Amino acid sequence: MQKKRILTGDRPTGPLHLGHYVGSLANRVKLQTEYDEFIIIADIQALTTNFDHPERLKEDVFNVCLDYLGVGIDPNLATIFIQSQVPEIAELTIFYSMFVPVSILRYNPTIKSEAKQYGYDAKGMTYGFLGYPVSQAADITFCRANLVPVGADQVPHIELTRKIVRRFNELYAPVLVEPEALVGSIPRLVGLDGNAKMSKSLGNCIYLSDSPEVVAKRVNTAVTDPARIHANDPGHPEVCNVFTYQKAFNVKFIPELEKNCRAGTIGCVPCKKTLVAAINELLDPIRERRKKYETDPDSVTQILLQGTKRAHEEAKKTMALVRDAMKINYYK
Ligand code: TRP
Repeated sequence: MQKKRILTGDRPTGPLHLGHYVGSLANRVKLQTEYDEFIIIADIQALTTNFDHPERLKEDVFNVCLDYLGVGIDPNLATIFIQSQVPEIAELTIFYSMFVPVSILRYNPTIKSEAKQYGYDAKGMTYGFLGYPVSQAADITFCRANLVPVGADQVPHIELTRKIVRRFNELYAPVLVEPEALVGSIPRLVGLDGNAKMSKSLGNCIYLSDSPEVVAKRVNTAVTDPARIHANDPGHPEVCNVFTYQKAFNVKFIPELEKNCRAGTIGCVPCKKTLVAAINELLDPIRERRKKYETDPDSVTQILLQGTKRAHEEAKKTMALVRDAMKINYYK
């Protein structure tokens, strides 16, 4: 039996961090054996906010690929590819955009909250930013993906993709595959400051490429239970940000840490030390694999080229079906 196909990916806007690992990368490593996994490095989508710095993309694409390989995405199992090098995605985006009402995009809750985050008002909002969910529908449908593993914030985009597929199939001919979202059950890892999700602009991340020393330094800045002033004050793990990290990275010590924290028999400093050790234990093999590829950059380029070639072949097949369905195949 043929494996079901998955498509998922990231915008290359900087190095990937622990939040990406917990929220999606670990799951991708798990899913790559059971599914035919396509992973898009969405460089055009990165331009929705970084259009003034296209010169960064090449390096960012390369580094995201290094992070993927580091965490254990196996290029023999998964297809890693670059969005801008598959022009059929742009072509599909244009065709879809003819029948997607602008009002649907304006009401998309993820677009609304990102617009707020980037300070775009109704006037400053670009056509490309407002329309990127249409382009994302093309990312998903060009390879006829069945499943899209994503975080909860991406669900409105998958819902739109499903609408686009149904509308296309009904308007022209039933050639597109309707995908389903596979929403991760793990809550998003908040930043070290405890306020928001990990984000480069807030400086509250631990990157997969950070050294052990940097990890220790970063964890030491993390906020803990604000009621704990002295090391022997009883702690409240349920409100402690470091404790949520412990739950993600140090499961085996949780009962002991919780008991000692509540009793005031372990202070925040030693508690953080165990967290640093656990994170570094997780990152060590990732660093090692990453380094291997880093010292052989040509192999990374080859992986990107190979993956993109395969994606391009799939895109050509879908595009032929789409053109036939729309009867834009005049001289065939
Ligand atoms: N929008 C996604 C993000 O910001 C990245 C992305 C682009 C994506 N194309 C996709 C995710 C297709 C899933 C499917 O993280």
